[in-house]
Amino acid sequence: MAKNLVVTGGAGYIGSHVAVDLINAGHDVLIIDNFVNSHPKAIERIKEIAPGRIDLLERDLANADHADEIVDAIKTFGADGAVHLAGLKAVGESVEKPAKYYSTNIGSALTLIRALEAANAKSLVFSSSATVYGDYNDNPVTEDGETGATNPYGRTKLFIEEILKDIARADNDWKIVNLRYFNPVGAHPSGKIGEDPNDIPNNLFPYIAQVAIGRREKLTVFGNDYATRDGTGVRDYIHVCDLARGHVKALDWLSGQKNGVVKDINLGAGVGYSVLEAVSAFKRASNRDIPYEIAARREGDIAEIYADAGLANELLNWKAEKSLEEMCADHWRWQSQNPNGYKTD
Ligand code: WQD
Repeated sequence: MAKNLVVTGGAGYIGSHVAVDLINAGHDVLIIDNFVNSHPKAIERIKEIAPGRIDLLERDLANADHADEIVDAIKTFGADGAVHLAGLKAVGESVEKPAKYYSTNIGSALTLIRALEAANAKSLVFSSSATVYGDYNDNPVTEDGETGATNPYGRTKLFIEEILKDIARADNDWKIVNLRYFNPVGAHPSGKIGEDPNDIPNNLFPYIAQVAIGRREKLTVFGNDYATRDGTGVRDYIHVCDLARGHVKALDWLSGQKNGVVKDINLGAGVGYSVLEAVSAFKRASNRDIPYEIAARREGDIAEIYADAGLANELLNWKAEKSLEEMCADHWRWQSQNPNGYKTD
């Protein structure tokens, strides 16, 4: 059934892919984004891929001066629910600037909760992260694994999960899913939308892609002395289109649930690949060399983590379908068609 859905951070990497899938599923979308880590051109590209109703509100959910206007806009839109992706996500930056991360990520969530209550639209899919698991669990990690983030970014995700659980305990009208993403990579096969980090990429795939396109000289591999099959870090890479589809499935599932439900669900492929395996796959996909040097471990990194995605399959009838080769090929198509991301200068 078509719904009016708010997508916060909808101009961002994951948000733009989620917006495309929601529109293609027949929903109307209100994107709230302040473009602090995204670009207005992404909205145009979403419309090219998925013609449909997209309203845009360029406001900052973390800015108290914007809160009343955001609440009114969500009520006027007639929201039925929301997907909350807006937030800062650089692990390293969060260690240097914890107060900025707590005020931005938690402040944004609290403003959205207030707005959804005012609009009586108490259905929410929250963009959480596998970072909440820290390094405390055997792999594959299940949703009842121990949580304890190892950095302020991950702690904001964990705290927001707990805030949402408290909200639902206090008001049984809420229905909430916390989607714990593993490592989203790749891009829409059209090559029109993709990951476009500001400045130097924090994450592996955008960095590799910028080396392949010639914007960066070489990749720095953060450590090759981990207890993994080749000594480099192992992560569960999931195609961003598989991830986006998981959001549509989560919203559909929520609409069939009783009030008061709050569920944590992993979105991962259930397979781990090392840094060097990812480099090799990207070389094959791009037919470009990816020079790299081995350096010391990055503070806060863990050796290996990958998901048990059985609950998503059981509840949402969802599983990741795209291979590492497809992730690399689609990421490369986006990067080679958009050497400077959305900036065309
Ligand atoms: C992957 C592997 C690095 C960069 C992040 C954060 C968060 C999350 C996405 C949403 C690790 C290695 C990386 C580089 C490297 N977003 N690496 N050289 O740290 O697993 O998690 O995932 O939740 O942003 O939680 O992702 O891509 O930074 O690192 O060697 O230049 O690549 O050591 O082993 P991470 P990542």
